Amino acid sequence: MRNINAVNPSFNNPTESKPRRVPLGRSDLEVSPVGTGTWQWGGAFYWGYGRSYTDEDLAAAYAASIENGINWFDTAEIYGRGKSEIILGKHVNSSNSNNPDSPKALIATKFFPYPWRLHKSTLRRALKASLQRLNTESIDIYQIHFPFRPRSFQYWVDALAGAAEDGLVKAVGVSNFSAEQTKCAHEMLDRKGIVLAANQVGYSLLNRKIESNGVLETCRDLDVSVISYGPLAEGLLSGKYRPDNPPPFMRKWRWARKRLKMLPPLISLMSDIASAYDASPSQVALNWLMQKDTLPIPGAKSAMQAKDNATAMTWSLANDEFEALNMATEQYLPGR
Ligand SMILES: NC(=O)c1ccc[n+]([C@@H]2O[C@H](COP(=O)([O-])OP(=O)(O)OC[C@H]3O[C@@H](n4cnc5c(N)ncnc54)[C@H](OP(=O)(O)O)[C@@H]3O)[C@@H](O)[C@H]2O)c1
Repeated sequence: MRNINAVNPSFNNPTESKPRRVPLGRSDLEVSPVGTGTWQWGGAFYWGYGRSYTDEDLAAAYAASIENGINWFDTAEIYGRGKSEIILGKHVNSSNSNNPDSPKALIATKFFPYPWRLHKSTLRRALKASLQRLNTESIDIYQIHFPFRPRSFQYWVDALAGAAEDGLVKAVGVSNFSAEQTKCAHEMLDRKGIVLAANQVGYSLLNRKIESNGVLETCRDLDVSVISYGPLAEGLLSGKYRPDNPPPFMRKWRWARKRLKMLPPLISLMSDIASAYDASPSQVALNWLMQKDTLPIPGAKSAMQAKDNATAMTWSLANDEFEALNMATEQYLPGR
């Protein structure tokens, strides 16, 4: 087994009891290098909420995230049609009332520009509805979910800036924005003295599009954090799915058999690396994303998954392992 402290001396240092935190872009917020995604929390149709896992599992996933150093959760008004925000808000508030001295977990949520939303006031209404579901007074990180038309993304960035100016939002983010859109949003906000803290995009060992389309470089240049969604390729990178054991429900069709067929050599490399740290392939996938200077937000349905994902923050890949993963996934650079 590799000596973790030799790989990164700041980890597992008994004198360093504070959990790791990094700034979210140039905002005032400090987040753990891994967050927990909550699309699954209330997501029955795609994820099987209520069939393969329950509210008790999600309560345990929340507690395990916090216990293992995670301090932020990603949700959206559309996840489970608001159910994800309700479940998350309940856990954040009850955990805070049980431990009033510990800092409140941070919540990132999102506004969805539905085609029938045509006026800036709809963002304000959606934001207020999110606040109500989350049972809180302001949103820590509010993101525009997609740069969807008919309204331009600039229109929604302007509306979001208004909400930040009124103190309803602590940090401003976007999601699924291209390099050009990120630059433009950054400039627009900068003119108003507001920081664009993050761009949340799909990024994993199986989806390296942002390395070739300019998004990663642009965010780095502008000091905008990249939040990586789908960091485990919806569970594929955990190593538990194989061509003869595809993921359940809708994912079976989404991750066509071709992608599953190409998976075993990569999973075998990840498992070899993981075994040197007594870790899991999922932790290898998350570590690779952290080493690319991004913030992965793996979705978790249970305490076991949340703890496993958080444990990725306690060790780091050696350079040769990082390079081997880069080489093994070069074919995914253009995207999925
Ligand atoms: N901005 C956007 O457009 C956008 C889009 C998608 C997602 N997101 C956000 O990003 C988050 C993460 O993406 P995602 O949830 O789609 O995909 P993901 O994080 O790549 O995969 C999550 C799934 O992987 C499995 N899993 C998680 N941890 C595991 C572990 N340690 N061991 C084994 N299996 C594990 C679980 O499913 P099974 O156990 O069923 O396999 C879990 O539901 C979402 O929850 C959401 O907050 C944002």
